[in-house]
Amino acid sequence: MEPRHRETRLKRGSPDTNPWAPAQGSGLGHAAKSVALACLLCVPILSLGAWRMGSYWGAIEQARLAALEESRAHTALVSAPALPLLDAETAARGRDLFTSACVACHGAGGTGIAGLGADITRSPFVAARDDNEMVKFLVAGRPNAQPVGMPPRAGRDDLTDEDLHAIVAYVRGLQDPRRMPALREPVLAGVAPVTAGELDAALAAAGGDEELAEYIASGTKLFAASCTACHAQGGVGIKGNGPSMIGNAFVKSLDDDGLLAFLKRGRDPSDPKNTTGVGMPAKGGNPALDEDDLLDIIAYLRTLEKGNGSASAAK
Ligand code: HEC
Ligand code: HEC
Repeated sequence: MEPRHRETRLKRGSPDTNPWAPAQGSGLGHAAKSVALACLLCVPILSLGAWRMGSYWGAIEQARLAALEESRAHTALVSAPALPLLDAETAARGRDLFTSACVACHGAGGTGIAGLGADITRSPFVAARDDNEMVKFLVAGRPNAQPVGMPPRAGRDDLTDEDLHAIVAYVRGLQDPRRMPALREPVLAGVAPVTAGELDAALAAAGGDEELAEYIASGTKLFAASCTACHAQGGVGIKGNGPSMIGNAFVKSLDDDGLLAFLKRGRDPSDPKNTTGVGMPAKGGNPALDEDDLLDIIAYLRTLEKGNGSASAAK
């Protein structure tokens, strides 16, 4: 006897279309038909596969050629006749902004700092891109790079597209010194003037002490211009780049002289006291900061030190 469930199943379709129906013709003829059908089906599938493989390898080859061309971009640039000299004021402004926003990671002159930012003077990536593409890159940054990320706009929301264009102009001169005009003396750039609202906030933080309030307000601006690439706006820290300054135990543990000495020296990854494996550059990497600037920054750090560590985004 057939099991019941098989019977009910057979009743559902007509015997002609039912795949479970017993074979009508000869078994051999059916086998031949099935093989033929299978082959017919295989042809488009196999050719589709071959086409897909072909375009896959084609894309790889294209990417390889593009990478090869890019890798030669800098050599091609410096061996070709020089492009016109850069506008001297734009390049100088770019240099001052570069010192404030980029030197911390890419070093003075952009030649790179091991473990922080790449050498951008001989970078094929830079040479292969036009100015607008470079500005687009700076806006996006490379936040997921290891071991440190390059934050969007280098962590400096205040930099306008015009500022970024000036920075790119300066980078063009670093990349091909034949284009670099003679530059005027550097000035501390990228530091916005203190607003009335900020002065009020600083006055509150200083408990009404007007002189201290001025230091704090100035320190807030200088911190925003030199330290936020790694410690973020408001000093809340960026995971992987720099620890939070909010309620920071190290800051609390030192008096102003001790902190000043620390900021002047920084803390190299090779320093046994280094806790992150990432370097804290001397003067936060901004050589334009003088002692008074650093003391203003310390006055600002003191206001953050009182904060509650749980408000921080990173260690
Ligand atoms: C917090 C550190 C940091 C700061 C500040 C910073 N960068 Fe970077 N930058 C990096 C890192 C990290 C990379 C990626 C390196 C990598 O991918 O290997 C990078 C990559 C680049 C590259 C691409 C280089 C290449 O060959 O791929 C350029 C160009 C660049 N930065 C320019 C700038 C400029 C200009 C500024 C200032 C406006 C700046 N960076 C600020 C860390 C930084
Ligand atoms: C290129 C990234 C970078 C920049 C720019 C930078 N720092 Fe740092 N900073 C670090 C790192 C990384 C550490 C932690 C080093 C370690 O592992 O001990 C650090 C540590 C510190 C510490 C000690 C905190 C602690 O918990 O050990 C202070 C204070 C500090 N930075 C202040 C500043 C100030 C002020 C500026 C701007 C003038 C600045 N930093 C700019 C990366 C940076």
